[in-house]
Amino acid sequence: MSSSTVITNIAALVTNDPSLGDDSPLGLIQDAAVVIDGDRVAWTGESRKAPATDNRVDAGGRAVLPGFVDSHSHLVFAGDRTQEFNARMSGRSYSAGGIRTTVAATRAASDAELEANLTHYLAEALRQGTTTFETKSGYGLTVEDEARALRLAARHTDEVTFLGAHIVSPDYADDPAAYVALVTGEMLDACAPHARWIDVFCEKGAFDGDQARAILTAGKAKGLHPRIHANQLSYGPGVQLAVELDAASADHCTHLTDADVDALASGDTVATLLPGAEFSTRAEWPDARRLLDAGVTVALSTDCNPGSSFTSSVPFCIALAVRDMGMTPNEAVWSATAGGAAALRRTDIGRIAPGARADLTLLDAPSHVHLAYRPGVPLVSGVWRAGVRVV
Ligand code: NIG
Ligand code: FE
Repeated sequence: MSSSTVITNIAALVTNDPSLGDDSPLGLIQDAAVVIDGDRVAWTGESRKAPATDNRVDAGGRAVLPGFVDSHSHLVFAGDRTQEFNARMSGRSYSAGGIRTTVAATRAASDAELEANLTHYLAEALRQGTTTFETKSGYGLTVEDEARALRLAARHTDEVTFLGAHIVSPDYADDPAAYVALVTGEMLDACAPHARWIDVFCEKGAFDGDQARAILTAGKAKGLHPRIHANQLSYGPGVQLAVELDAASADHCTHLTDADVDALASGDTVATLLPGAEFSTRAEWPDARRLLDAGVTVALSTDCNPGSSFTSSVPFCIALAVRDMGMTPNEAVWSATAGGAAALRRTDIGRIAPGARADLTLLDAPSHVHLAYRPGVPLVSGVWRAGVRVV
């Protein structure tokens, strides 16, 4: 039998359901309570109206928001790229070529090493309030190494993405067409059973628009749904291809033409912004304001990976998005919760409403705004995942 818990005395509750709270997208309730029954949210409302339950937790006048939905990470890897980071901070620019360093280290690692690394970064993310994460392959680039990465990832999340098309494998440097044939053939056959999504790094030095279309179309035929690394380092066809193929998300969106923005506004593809990458590569920021003003749904995620964005912290990304990308604190918090859920085409997470999975983050602060207002401060003081308190 499932037991129920009420969390009372919440100064500000972010529900992301305007029908439950104020009529802003955050659906804020002041002086609120939440009832959790088993793994689900059973009730939200004003504290004084909360029903009696078996257990009671006093939030002490602090803020509660949905657990973060990190819809873009690359956590199956081995090795370290400190030297590359140091070189960049001395003026060198980022290029996709650094991925090869991690491919070599990942291929050489044992399953146990890769899984220990993965669980280490997952625990780190959980302590910072992330209750759902997507993660990708892409540092194996052989049939066996890609399938292994996905198998390991699937032990820890349902949101697993096949990214055999991260870069052309160094083994096929002289014959990229043969690598695309491998990715769309034998590699896809071995990987599809372990994944929900298929992704391509559509970029100069990685895969062009035609190659990306071929790979994503082959993935769709195998039941995988597309998402794309698009328009990160330069202008290109990725964003419009994402909309054309009804990808759940176009990720990065740093270099956008007006036609790209119009395409996103006209479709159901979410624009996932990853400011940790611009921070760690000293690149120009994506213009969140432009996307929001055009009516595009925006998600905010970490892109955690050892090359371009070695942070597992969604709060850090929220602070960057507010400071440097034109988002308000409310918009950034929405994008890191409900926006991430939209980028994964999920409605059971990213909100605190009856029937949703009980994923909640308690802050050591009276308002969710403090996530941007107090950058770098570890404000997450409680986390419930599927109704269980884990932090
Ligand atoms: O999202 N853009 C491609 N992939 C990663 C970088 C991976 C790496 O540098 O190792 C990204 O930034
Ligand atoms: Fe990425």
